Amino acid sequence: MDKVYPPGPQGGTKSRVKNHCRKFWWCDCLVLIIVVLVIILPIIFVAIPKIAQDEINASTLEVISEEVSEPTPNGVHLKLQSVIRSNSSFHPTVDSFVAALSLEGQEPFVYIQIPETKSKAETQVYVDQYVNFTSLEAFSTYTKAVMGAETLNMHMSGKTQVHLQGLPAMDVNFNKVISVKGLNKLEGLNITSIKLLTGPQILPDGSNMIGTVSIPNPSVTTIDLGDVTMNLAIDNKPIGSARLPNLTLQPGDNSVNMQSQIDPVAVFQFVTTKYKNAIIPLEISGNSSTRNGESLPYYEAAIQSNVVKVDLDVSPALAAAGVKIGG
Ligand SMILES: *[C@@H]1O[C@H](CO)[C@@H](O)[C@H](O)[C@H]1NC(C)=O
Ligand SMILES: *[C@@H]1O[C@H](CO)[C@@H](O)[C@H](O)[C@H]1NC(C)=O
Ligand SMILES: *[C@@H]1O[C@H](CO)[C@@H](O)[C@H](O)[C@H]1NC(C)=O
Ligand SMILES: *[C@@H]1O[C@H](CO)[C@@H](O)[C@H](O)[C@H]1NC(C)=O
Ligand SMILES: *[C@@H]1O[C@H](CO)[C@@H](O)[C@H](O)[C@H]1NC(C)=O
Ligand SMILES: *[C@@H]1O[C@H](CO)[C@@H](O)[C@H](O)[C@H]1NC(C)=O
Repeated sequence: MDKVYPPGPQGGTKSRVKNHCRKFWWCDCLVLIIVVLVIILPIIFVAIPKIAQDEINASTLEVISEEVSEPTPNGVHLKLQSVIRSNSSFHPTVDSFVAALSLEGQEPFVYIQIPETKSKAETQVYVDQYVNFTSLEAFSTYTKAVMGAETLNMHMSGKTQVHLQGLPAMDVNFNKVISVKGLNKLEGLNITSIKLLTGPQILPDGSNMIGTVSIPNPSVTTIDLGDVTMNLAIDNKPIGSARLPNLTLQPGDNSVNMQSQIDPVAVFQFVTTKYKNAIIPLEISGNSSTRNGESLPYYEAAIQSNVVKVDLDVSPALAAAGVKIGG
């Protein structure tokens, strides 16, 4: 019979192992535990969080629609519908977090609260909140970029935690570059009809020309620009102003009413001298934007930075007003 300890005379590998186990079982357990921890802990605290961050990095964010309304001097009502796409096999819950929106290399212009999401292959993220601008300057820089650009990159960044069942919460950085379409300098803006008003037709505010303006909006953004006024000029000579009351641009084509006060004598001089075909090269530049009588400097900065040129055929309007001109 083998003795457990000290080893019996018959010894042998089998009993030595058995002995070892009996004598050092706690030590082996410890070694096993340490080995397991050394493997498992880095997985839990290093590898999985890195995978989580990788997956967040690899996901894409697309803005489906945006609505900027109720502008005030300090902020706007922002509705943002976006979708985050991921091919990850992990489907963690992502905590609600504050995300900064900025243009590349610039200070954030607003902070928004991203709601908690359960990530899927396609996760809808809907933001509907009033946001205050971080600064008027930062937001004006943004609106000017939107006005001038065909496409622009918006940066969204924040820090949050993700939760996978049974694992500790993991810190991740959420940094996304979102490519969105801008208003592209209002290219394609056209005055599609005009009517000159004379005598008693002239509106109480002095408008003597009314018409419709077609404004294309290639972006996905519905934007309430307030009551907008524009400067009208020919060859840099001011000839009047136009008002686009309550101007809201929807994505796609917009047909909006315009009422203008123009200097008929100045226009008449142009069409009798330089533009005898009655097609005047009208320069339209932004002047002001107000809502409830309050000026909205961040929209004014954007529209003032932009000049649109429209070749306007005034002969039908002149003929309708009883002035025969052109060829
Ligand atoms: C995730 O992207 C950020 C840049 O946005 C980068 O600094 C970081 O190293 C990336 N992390 C991983 C784990 O890929
Ligand atoms: C997911 O995989 C498809 C097919 O490989 C690829 O086209 C798509 O860009 C991937 N999406 C993301 C968000 O990585
Ligand atoms: C924005 O500012 C106004 C006044 O300064 C304040 O009453 C309001 O709570 C602020 N809104 C947010 C979302 O911070
Ligand atoms: C502008 O509108 C007028 C009237 O509808 C049209 O005749 C003209 O072709 C348009 N111009 C452009 C550049 O689309
Ligand atoms: C401005 O237009 C929006 C819809 O485009 C309308 O809901 C709102 O009542 C209008 N506001 C004014 C002051 O006319
Ligand atoms: C806006 O229009 C007013 C009146 O025509 C004019 O005095 C002012 O210089 C214009 N402002 C801009 C920025 O064009």
